[in-house]
Amino acid sequence: MLCQRNNDVINVVNRSAAISDNNDNLISIDGIIIDITHMKKMERQLRMRNKQLELMGSELRKANQRLMEIDQRKSELVNIVAHDLRNPLNSIRMFIELLLKYENSPLENEEFLHKIEQESLRLINLIDNFLDIEKIETGRMRYRHQSVELADLIEHFVSIYHWEAEKKGITLTKDSLVPIPEVIGDKNRISQVLSNLLANAVRYTNEGGSINIRVRTVAGTRMSERFQPPSPEKPHKHVKISIKDTGPGINREFHKHIFEKFYQLSSPAIKNNTGTGLGLAIVKEIVEHHRGRVWVESEEGKGATFFFTLPIKNV
Ligand SMILES: Nc1ncnc2c1ncn2[C@@H]1O[C@H](COP(=O)(O)OP(=O)(O)OP(=O)(O)O)[C@@H](O)[C@H]1O
Ligand SMILES: [Mg+2]
Repeated sequence: MLCQRNNDVINVVNRSAAISDNNDNLISIDGIIIDITHMKKMERQLRMRNKQLELMGSELRKANQRLMEIDQRKSELVNIVAHDLRNPLNSIRMFIELLLKYENSPLENEEFLHKIEQESLRLINLIDNFLDIEKIETGRMRYRHQSVELADLIEHFVSIYHWEAEKKGITLTKDSLVPIPEVIGDKNRISQVLSNLLANAVRYTNEGGSINIRVRTVAGTRMSERFQPPSPEKPHKHVKISIKDTGPGINREFHKHIFEKFYQLSSPAIKNNTGTGLGLAIVKEIVEHHRGRVWVESEEGKGATFFFTLPIKNV
């Protein structure tokens, strides 16, 4: 190693040769020392550039892979949308044909009109769900947070689904163990959560069953906090809403999966499911955006209880 006067290390190579006479006596050593500091520096820079290029290459490959996956998901979604839209549209077309082409009794006509109304609502629900999932996947879901009177919202949906449930001979009841607090959130999105969970409960509960909504407050969402009574030092920070039904229930192994998009259980207890399998995926996204949690407690054949929490305003 050689150093310059300013203590900088310089790299050198030494080329030398021993010169001997005919009797192999060493006469001299001829040598040359070449300063290769600059070359070495260039070599290091080259190695660094190479590494940077490799890194950029791998980033590019990953970005490309992500784009391909998004593209694939988009194609899948388009296929599903096209397929799922066809069914209600076909039914609507068929009932319109029945109305136009045949002499029906007034009662039959009324029935066909009801079917058309039902199928149109199904179409609207499908399109809304697809649009929401697209927004979630592309990170374009927008929220407008405001103070929400949760008590009024729950009352509103209980009255809507009370009527829906009654048509199936299901009783829908509500009890609140506390005065229902206000929450901060997007009123329309929280409505979507309540509506999806209640629609599921009504859809999957058999005739003559029952559904119960219950509202409680909890210290927090961790297991240890769920049963703590409120105190001045530790006021309850979350409201917990549960929707319990007496439907077919859900086997434990599917509890996580049902919150994934397009996941639907194929059980003999659930026949002719006309849903999209997107409702719970949307519910999960909305609740988690509000810093809440959603989960299910259920055993197959023993009904299901869906829970979700939302942070209470001003605590
Ligand atoms: N209360 C319930 N009881 C039993 N199974 C349920 C219940 N709620 C949901 N499930 C199961 O979870 C699946 C996913 O529910 P999700 O709400 O995401 O989709 P969906 O109801 O099939 O369609 P939609 O997109 O119209 O809501 C359902 O298909 C059903 O198999
Ligand atoms: Mg649903």
